[in-house]
Amino acid sequence: MNVQPDHHDHHDHHSPSGDAAPRIVVLGSLNMDLVLRVPHAPAAGETLAGHCMTAIAGGKGANQAVSSARAGGRVSMIGCVGDDPHGQVLRDALHRDGIDTTALRTVPGEPTGTALILVEDNGQNRIVILAGANARLRIDEAALRQQLQGAAFLVAQFESPMAQVERAIVLAHEAGCKVMLNPSPVRAIGAPLWPCIDTLVVNEIEAQALSGQAAGSPREAALAGHALRALGARRVVVTLGEHGAVAIDADGARHHPALPVKAIDTTAAGDTFLGTLAVALGQGHGLDAAVRLGIRAAALCIQQLGAQPSIPRQRDVLRSPLPADWTPL
Ligand code: RIB
Repeated sequence: MNVQPDHHDHHDHHSPSGDAAPRIVVLGSLNMDLVLRVPHAPAAGETLAGHCMTAIAGGKGANQAVSSARAGGRVSMIGCVGDDPHGQVLRDALHRDGIDTTALRTVPGEPTGTALILVEDNGQNRIVILAGANARLRIDEAALRQQLQGAAFLVAQFESPMAQVERAIVLAHEAGCKVMLNPSPVRAIGAPLWPCIDTLVVNEIEAQALSGQAAGSPREAALAGHALRALGARRVVVTLGEHGAVAIDADGARHHPALPVKAIDTTAAGDTFLGTLAVALGQGHGLDAAVRLGIRAAALCIQQLGAQPSIPRQRDVLRSPLPADWTPL
């Protein structure tokens, strides 16, 4: 099923012309999230009683794969899990969403990646990750080249070994496959890599770290986005949580407001936004229509606890409220 055109998209007056179910190749991490709900984040030396603890499927790579699949994409996942029960749970979770795991390797003798997540009563989270098997990712260049043929996007993050992520980005660029990069956790991006990036998706912290300028307000995010485009990325989206997102491309910058919802847990909101964005762009929607869909999907995500269970399906996103109109910056 294709997503409905959004009449608010000023760049895209025509109907989406891309593939109704674009192929998305995701290279990235898979983590078992150990989620502890706490009244507030403990200060140094403070002991706190948590409300409850749950193990939930997560990892930025896997979350973005799941969100792309639930948005209507045909998705392949490249990554590594350990040969332990968590690895099997994460593999099974991808299968349930119809994600191709041919390039998902089980690494003997390594634990599956783990994330310790504290979720405060206000919905904010604090995450510490232990890479485990994710650190053992090595791409098979011949297999990757084949997977990239005809794919709408290679989607990558920085929870996998940098040399592997960089090589995959270069291969995608050479193969004519667009790259959507979510440089999280943030690290420097080498000069030769910037022109390979079609769509850079960053939060305000990542935008600031990469551009060297503040990105907390929509206006600041627009300026930071222009600076990131000057480094070589074709377009940039800066996500600002409750302040929405700013889209920056050759036509300028637009601020898209968020939907006013009460956050239960913001984990995977960015991943949900990104997968929805990749599929919508692959379907031929313009950047603004795709950002609006991403905002609607993320608003549904943050009203549930946990990463993958909280990622909405396309039909629910299409039934959800529309955000207020965007404003040029
Ligand atoms: O983006 C959210 C994800 O970051 C969590 O699922 C956790 O595993 C970390 O990778």
